[in-house]
Amino acid sequence: MEEEKRKKVSDSLIEQVYQIRPEHLNGAGRLFGGRLMEWIDEAAGLVGIRHAQSNVITASVDNLKFIRGAYQNDLVVLIGKLTYVGNSSMEVRVDTYVESLDGIRKPINRAYVTVVAVDGNGKPMKVPGLISESESEKAEWEAGIKRREMRRQRKEEGF
Ligand SMILES: CC(C)(COP(=O)(O)OP(=O)(O)OC[C@H]1O[C@@H](n2cnc3c(N)ncnc32)[C@H](O)[C@@H]1OP(=O)(O)O)[C@@H](O)C(=O)NCCC(=O)NCCS
Repeated sequence: MEEEKRKKVSDSLIEQVYQIRPEHLNGAGRLFGGRLMEWIDEAAGLVGIRHAQSNVITASVDNLKFIRGAYQNDLVVLIGKLTYVGNSSMEVRVDTYVESLDGIRKPINRAYVTVVAVDGNGKPMKVPGLISESESEKAEWEAGIKRREMRRQRKEEGF
C-alpha cells in the first residue's frame, strides 16, 4: 500500500511583506482593514496551495481583531503557517505585524483561516498529512482539533 504523503509545516510557510502606500489607507489615514483582510486571505491561500499543490478556496476566517493601526510607509509583515489539516481542509494561522525601520515587530492581528483544496471541478480533494515537529507545532495541532470542533458546532447551530 502506498504510504500517505505528509509534509512539514516549514514546507509551506510563507512570509509576505508590504509597504503601506496611499492607496492602502482609509479616510482616517490608517491601513484600511479590508485591505489587510485581503492580504490575510491571500497569505492563507498561498500556504494552502503550497501544501496541497492544488487550487484552494476559503471556507472561514476566525478572529479578526485589530490590535493596532498601521500608517503610510510602515512595513506590514504577514507570516502564514499550517496548524492543522483534515481531509480536504487546512487551517492556516496568519500573524500580522507592523515592522518599524529598526526591525521591531508589533502584532496587528492573528487569524485562523480554513482553506479547502479543490480539484479541477471545484470539488474538495484530499490533502497531504502534516508533520508537526516542534512543541509549538504540536500544540497548534491539538488546538486546531478544538477549533475545528467549535467551527463544526457553530455551523451546525447556525451562529
Ligand atoms: C468550503 C465548501 C467547499 C465546503 O462545502 P461542504 O459542502 O461543507 O463540503 P464538505 O462537507 O465536503 O467539507 C469540505 C471540508 O470543508 C470543511 N468546511 C466546511 N465548512 C467549513 C467552515 N465553515 N469552516 C471551516 N471548514 C469548513 C469541512 O470540515 C471539510 O473539511 P475536511 O475535508 O478536512 O473534513 C463550500 O462551503 C464552499 O464552496 N464555500 C464557498 C467557498 C468560496 O467560494 N470561497 C471564496 C470566498 S467567497
